Amino acid sequence: MVPTKSRIKVAVIGAGAAGLCAGRHLVAEPARFQFDIYEQQDDVGGTWRYSTHVGKDEYGLPVHSSMYKNLRTNLPKEVMAFPDFPFENCDGHSFLHHTEVLHYLEEYAKNYDLYKYIKFHKFIDNIRPLKQEDAPIEYAVSFSDVVTKEKETYIYDAVMVCNGHYSVPYFPEIPGLNDFKGLLIHSHDYREPEDFKNMKVVVLGAGASGIDIAIEVSRVAKEVILSHNTPPKTCPLPDNTKQEKGIESMSKSSVTLIGGKHYECDAIIICTGYLYHYPFLDASFNVKIGDQHISPLFLHMFLIDYPTLAIWAVPKLIVPFPIYDQQAKVFLKFLKGKVELPTPETMRAETERDFHPPFGSRLQT
Ligand SMILES: Cc1cc2nc3c(=O)[nH]c(=O)nc-3n(C[C@H](O)[C@H](O)[C@H](O)COP(=O)(O)OP(=O)(O)OC[C@H]3O[C@@H](n4cnc5c(N)ncnc54)[C@H](O)[C@@H]3O)c2cc1C
Ligand SMILES: NC(=O)c1ccc[n+]([C@@H]2O[C@H](COP(=O)([O-])OP(=O)(O)OC[C@H]3O[C@@H](n4cnc5c(N)ncnc54)[C@H](OP(=O)(O)O)[C@@H]3O)[C@@H](O)[C@H]2O)c1
Repeated sequence: MVPTKSRIKVAVIGAGAAGLCAGRHLVAEPARFQFDIYEQQDDVGGTWRYSTHVGKDEYGLPVHSSMYKNLRTNLPKEVMAFPDFPFENCDGHSFLHHTEVLHYLEEYAKNYDLYKYIKFHKFIDNIRPLKQEDAPIEYAVSFSDVVTKEKETYIYDAVMVCNGHYSVPYFPEIPGLNDFKGLLIHSHDYREPEDFKNMKVVVLGAGASGIDIAIEVSRVAKEVILSHNTPPKTCPLPDNTKQEKGIESMSKSSVTLIGGKHYECDAIIICTGYLYHYPFLDASFNVKIGDQHISPLFLHMFLIDYPTLAIWAVPKLIVPFPIYDQQAKVFLKFLKGKVELPTPETMRAETERDFHPPFGSRLQT
């Protein structure tokens, strides 16, 4: 049941690109929506707010950003931008440094006057549904101030979960991983190549992080092995870098690759991606996070049994900012009663079909 109030109260979790985009659409309809954006950090931008720190921040929270010092975007700015807010003053180049993206997001927040809606330094601890007989569901949103530790709970009619999913490292289970005595980090904690000077380095995983980091590190390292199980990359690699199979096991100072090759190495950089992570969603929502799969989510965003709570940015192979914009428009139309969702049974059946499509039509990469 959608909220029946004339003015709907919405909580947005996170002030990264997705949360700001949610705010941009909510602020456009003050007669229909009242909202707060909750952000644990002290400013906007989410993962684009680069930090030289790794591990915990000054308030004891895990460092959120996975940016590294030299990172440039892998989407051109002409494609990457929100549809109504182009990148400007970027020296003409298309692939931007991360500082330019952060500046863009700060300008976006200023342009739509969003800062006054953001509650900074507020860490969401728990969100739980308040089911009432014959009335739309409400949500109790509980949070702590990261500085004072003071706790509060506010009630909302709808929740937009925009907490990002590139912050909690995924470490595959590899025999011997804890025995390795050299330098072993996840790409989440990678900041600059100089830390790998003159080393023999194995980079595991050949997604965007693995390829980018292997190429960066090769400038200063003695030798780099890009170890992965996907088809060989055809992009040119530096002379001191070669592709090999994934890691089967590790020992004190070496890796054994699938197929049996053995490499002595000084450092291993694990670039195997990140985990979806919604620790604040109460168990009563019954959200299941499987292997790269969250359920039950209709259209990869609406929680089927609680459709006034939606999760942003779940699909991975997307152009993020324009998709966030579309997701925000659809969700707000639904809250206003301008679009209807199918019955829960139909949503479940369609969601099931997404993951078991007929005719084996799944994309092969
Ligand atoms: C290394 C890297 C490079 C990338 N490069 C590109 C690129 O070139 N182009 C592109 O379009 N995309 C790129 N992306 C994808 C990028 O993640 C998205 O573009 C987008 O910035 C994600 O925005 P988000 O708002 O979903 O998440 P985030 O930016 O992660 O923001 C989530 C926010 O929620 C806050 N938060 C989380 N939990 C809580 C809590 N419990 N309480 C309060 N606040 C909380 C966080 O502090 C954060 O501010 C890249 C990602 C990474 C990791
Ligand atoms: N320059 C840039 O703009 C830039 C740089 C870095 C990251 N990013 C973005 O950041 C996000 C995260 O990228 P990411 O590369 O960190 O994560 P990712 O896209 O999830 O890639 C992780 C890779 O690790 C592989 N992998 C997982 N387990 C493995 C194992 N045990 N052995 C070998 N390989 C394994 C995966 O292969 P399978 O898929 O086969 O499991 C996948 O290819 C993406 O959106 C990406 O575009 C952008």
